Amino acid sequence: MADQFDLVVIGSGPGGYVGAIRAAQLGLKVAVVEKWATLGGTCLNIGCIPSKALLHASELFEEAGHGFKNLGIDIPAPVLNLPQMMNHKADVVASNVGGVDYLFKKNKITVYRGTGSIPAAGKVLVTPQSGPATEIATTNIVIATGSVSANLPGIEIDEKTVVTSTGALTLDKVPERLLVIGAGVIGLELGSVWSRLGAKVTVVEYLDRILPGMDSEVARQFQRMLQKQNIEFKLSSKVAGIDKQDDGSLKVRVEPAKGGEVEVLDFDVALVAVGRKPFTEGLGLEAAGVALDERGRVRVDAHFKTSVDGIYSIGDVIAGPMLAHKAEDEGIAIAEILAGQAGHVNYAAIPSVVYTNPEVASVGKTEDELKADGVNYKIGKFPFTANGRAKAMLATQGFVKILADVETDRVLGAHIVGKNAGEMIHELVTLMEFSGAAEDLARTTHAHPTLSEAVREAALALGDGAIHI
Ligand code: FAD
Ligand code: NAI
Repeated sequence: MADQFDLVVIGSGPGGYVGAIRAAQLGLKVAVVEKWATLGGTCLNIGCIPSKALLHASELFEEAGHGFKNLGIDIPAPVLNLPQMMNHKADVVASNVGGVDYLFKKNKITVYRGTGSIPAAGKVLVTPQSGPATEIATTNIVIATGSVSANLPGIEIDEKTVVTSTGALTLDKVPERLLVIGAGVIGLELGSVWSRLGAKVTVVEYLDRILPGMDSEVARQFQRMLQKQNIEFKLSSKVAGIDKQDDGSLKVRVEPAKGGEVEVLDFDVALVAVGRKPFTEGLGLEAAGVALDERGRVRVDAHFKTSVDGIYSIGDVIAGPMLAHKAEDEGIAIAEILAGQAGHVNYAAIPSVVYTNPEVASVGKTEDELKADGVNYKIGKFPFTANGRAKAMLATQGFVKILADVETDRVLGAHIVGKNAGEMIHELVTLMEFSGAAEDLARTTHAHPTLSEAVREAALALGDGAIHI
């Protein structure tokens, strides 16, 4: 007799593991199928967590080299110990994936190791790397198989000199010249890591701007900050081909996006960071009758149900921003729905953070979107140059920008460039969750001296005016 569950989740990334835990907490008998050796998916193993370990370490390295002197700390030039930095990253990953193991045991979740496929609703087949397949019976299935790096035609990834984010997280030496293809989140975060550690980084971006989707004023100013950090940008450009040389270096053909004269540039490593694509291979979705959309994502309704009863899907493999916290919230929502509750995700208030220095954080509408939608909006802005704490920390780069409705004062979006922007954005996320007005924020006492006072000042600027500018 096959094992019988209320819910089988395929994939143990932030969507799958969080959904499994919440479902178990709500009384369901839950199993998770994972094909990798460790739990936690892209985010914990090769994404959010290892990248943040390297971002943190490289930021301190850079600060020790260039920032300490002005604070009155004289030290000899720091020496990079890359193997130890990578050990730090590996320890952080191990501790996080081990945490998921612990939580699964605590919540009595059964783990099946192997590739999960769906012969039909109510059945999951687990095929391990070796040994016989196991069939599991279940009332509900959640597909949470995530995404993988997209590639460019004609470019061969070897994860040594032509790498995706996965290879860029494990380089064994600092490349002298790093090419980053794509000025999105991965390109700018991992480009920053290697730039701080000594690489000369050039970013080639197809569009005429960086960070598409983010507020364009924010993107423009942020690009200037990155240029000051010695990162070079070639916008409106594309890579036409990469030729590997006998000495291991790369000759890269770069041309204008619209076509034109080709420039040949030399690099040691190229990072392809042109987006990620949903991953559904091996699931047998066609045979099971689960429909995909035009971009290869599993198509779901407002309650995460696919085209087949009893089969649901969440996370990067469905539509929406490819973010860990979006996947997690969908995991919680589907667990609640399956337990008979009213699970729901508010897609209008999902924050997004680029963990560079300074950080870029955003929630809600950009000014570009409000313009396009013809909304009557007002802007409240406050620079960190006018914030006392930022001055004390020598962290005066950036600003807070809040967008609110002219008639109702309701906050529609917020964008922060600055140190710790990724933490500060959450008071705006909370405000938006409660449909708050700028005046609510402007009247809220903020501790002094904090960077968050700049957030309040931007809200004050939407009313009778900011105080400190
Ligand atoms: P995933 O995390 O991709 O997990 C899917 C899991 O399913 C994997 O473990 C896979 O092995 C397993 N699987 C797939 N098919 C099968 C099968 N047939 N059978 C069994 N198992 C299967 N997001 C953020 O919000 N913040 C960040 O800072 C951030 N940093 C990132 C940095 C990098 C370098 C990358 C690549 C991504 C980053 N992301 C970040 C994005 C984030 O990792 C994803 O949004 C998130 O992991 C999606 O979660 P998921 O559960 O949908 O899928
Ligand atoms: P992305 O979609 O953020 O950026 C890809 C960039 O590549 C875009 O600017 C695009 O215009 C450009 N591009 C596409 N084709 C190109 C070409 N042929 N030549 C030059 N440029 C080209 O994708 P990215 O950075 O790969 O990240 C993938 C996903 O992972 C994102 O959706 C992101 O949400 C998630 N992620 C989130 C992080 C975070 O929240 N901090 C960190 C890292 C990844």
